[in-house]
Amino acid sequence: MAKVQRIYDPVLENDWHAVYLASELKDQPVGVIILGERVAIYRSKDGVHALQDLCIHRGAMLSKGWVQNDVLVCPYHGWQYDASGQCVCIPAQPKGEKIPARAKAGVYACQEKYGFIWVCIGEPVADLPHFEEFADPSYRPLPCGPYHVAAAGTRVIENFTDFAHLMFVHQNLLGHPDYAELPDFQVVKEEGRIYIDQIPIFQPVAHSGSDKKEGTTYVYMKEVYRPLSARLSKADPSNGQTLWIMLTVQPVAEDECIVFMIVSRNYAFDVDDANFIQFQDTVFDQDARVIETQKPELLPLDLQVELNHKVDRFSIAYRRWLRELGVKVGTI
Ligand code: FES
Ligand SMILES: [Fe+2]
Repeated sequence: MAKVQRIYDPVLENDWHAVYLASELKDQPVGVIILGERVAIYRSKDGVHALQDLCIHRGAMLSKGWVQNDVLVCPYHGWQYDASGQCVCIPAQPKGEKIPARAKAGVYACQEKYGFIWVCIGEPVADLPHFEEFADPSYRPLPCGPYHVAAAGTRVIENFTDFAHLMFVHQNLLGHPDYAELPDFQVVKEEGRIYIDQIPIFQPVAHSGSDKKEGTTYVYMKEVYRPLSARLSKADPSNGQTLWIMLTVQPVAEDECIVFMIVSRNYAFDVDDANFIQFQDTVFDQDARVIETQKPELLPLDLQVELNHKVDRFSIAYRRWLRELGVKVGTI
């Protein structure tokens, strides 16, 4: 079992993190890691739950146990924990004796939404990042990933905000080197978000459902609305076809993360969903290959450390915002 070390962050530990595909959480508990903290998630008839993945008796992992009558059973000596973390049964103890008051597991806030299981290991200070295009019937949402990345989540979010790489990393898919010059743009900062809007980008293919062989100039909006959650929309102004992508990062360690994504489109419902997922897999793999090589591994918030060009103004705004919020993990 790989060693994990708890890492502390005053902001990220009070935020929600997507940690698992909801469709994959069935009747067995699952172990996930958030900021080095082991968390056991499981499903009961009342919904989804998250407990510290540590039995207080002898430190076994509860996620290696099983769910029985809606309680989580430790695999070592069978102690049973309910959704509040209270131990409700110690099989070796004589019937009728009181369960020791200390027999409890830590409990975390947990919910299911947007096709993911979300957990907060601290005190949630806000709701989940909103994503209206998930429930809107004119859109068709598809969870993508999860993608394991050997890099800081902050590097992943910065990459998601970046336009100037599309023509190189995603050459002939999301951009073309002959169209690398970016238009002038302004970053807007509001309470809890930074965003840019109305950015035209020429794309040779753009998405797997595109029927335009000669390429299209899409108009983008990109927004970071949590330290590790962002979304974008790209629209074809000639026909209103719009694709939304929401990306959220589960910070496992300083330099390791798992990325969850939803793509939601208002067109090409007749195109096989698998095409869209596969396209996203290809694009994200292209990103990960670069992100995993970046040094320093952690995102420098001191703007003198890397060469910040004016075309990087959205990522500059992201770095400034992280500093303002006080995000520690994934930054230097
Ligand atoms: S370690 Fe969990 S029941 Fe003993
Ligand atoms: Fe990319």
